[in-house]
Amino acid sequence: MLSGAPSSTESVKRGPRLNDVGVVGGGPVGWAIAWRCAQRGLRVVVHDDRPGSGASRVAAGMLSPVAEAYFGEHELTGLLVESARRWPGFAADLTEASGVDLGHRTDGTLVVGLTADDVAVAGRLWAYQQGLGLPITRLRPSALRDLEPALTTRVRGGAVAPGDHQVDPRRLVAALRTAAERAGVTLRPAHVGALSEVDARVTVVAAGCGAAPLTGLPVRPVKGQVLRLRAPGGGPPGFRHVIRGYADGEPVYLVPRDSGEVVVGATVEERADTEVTAGGVLTLLRAAVELVPELTEYELVETVAGQRPGTPDNAPILGALPGRPGVLVATGHHRHGIVLTPVTADLVTDLIVTGEPDPALAPFSPDRFGKERTWN
Ligand code: GLY
Repeated sequence: MLSGAPSSTESVKRGPRLNDVGVVGGGPVGWAIAWRCAQRGLRVVVHDDRPGSGASRVAAGMLSPVAEAYFGEHELTGLLVESARRWPGFAADLTEASGVDLGHRTDGTLVVGLTADDVAVAGRLWAYQQGLGLPITRLRPSALRDLEPALTTRVRGGAVAPGDHQVDPRRLVAALRTAAERAGVTLRPAHVGALSEVDARVTVVAAGCGAAPLTGLPVRPVKGQVLRLRAPGGGPPGFRHVIRGYADGEPVYLVPRDSGEVVVGATVEERADTEVTAGGVLTLLRAAVELVPELTEYELVETVAGQRPGTPDNAPILGALPGRPGVLVATGHHRHGIVLTPVTADLVTDLIVTGEPDPALAPFSPDRFGKERTWN
């Protein structure tokens, strides 16, 4: 067991007031760690004055280890693939424990381009992904439109990643909170301004961008603007796959839900504000309707912006915080917080319970940044 983390029986002997685990952050990663720890018999408190109001409230919920396998991110891709492998079991456990439908859908993802340039750019990535042995297959325009007739006739080429799925992040957070609270986790609805405010034997910082001031780690906000549309007539959207596209050079994704919602995302901006701009909405809508023309008829029901917790190498920061015994970090999930929730919760919970870091954590250690370690 990690230094400072006794077994739950030891903690009872030493006194009932100190919790085993204090999780800072009530997003999916924080709640999932809390739930998994409670399932292992630990007494857990989640600290957050606005649980579920961070990046997960904006996120589309794509479980995309293949379409988001980018050049130079080999270790991250391995973690994405492993977490996606765990998703079906995690979803089944969580649905049973919470009674909440997660909106987990397995229709797969189409990646498409509208111009020869779009397809050339995407084609290099598809070749890289195939070279890693990932399941992605190029398709001709006619095959793409057979799969999704709602796609524009302008589509020039694309690929299908059948194993890239989706979940509804807002439902996910509600389910995790319910499951965690049913397992005995309590919420302390207060902002944590310093780690000394957490009275637990082990503190887990799962606070997204809020981890930076608490830990000094180089987590920076990367703004993303997202839209939510609704299909007319109360029916489902006219397409079932997640569609990721390059529309005249603009990347965009469309995530259809059974409820009739379509999430359109997302800008990627090196800024710390959460304002929705006319330019952001214009860029997303233009690219979206170029890919799927029927979206012009959909109602625009929400515009929102959030902050992805970015890191210098785009990979999460997982493990013991150097120089701070009893403090663990699970943050910096950047574009992948939803897909990485199961593996993060499992690895961090095992570390708390056994005190032994799984070798899979090594590439994501908080001490990997050297001089970049301190932010501001
Ligand atoms: N993973 C999608 C995004 O960050 O926009």
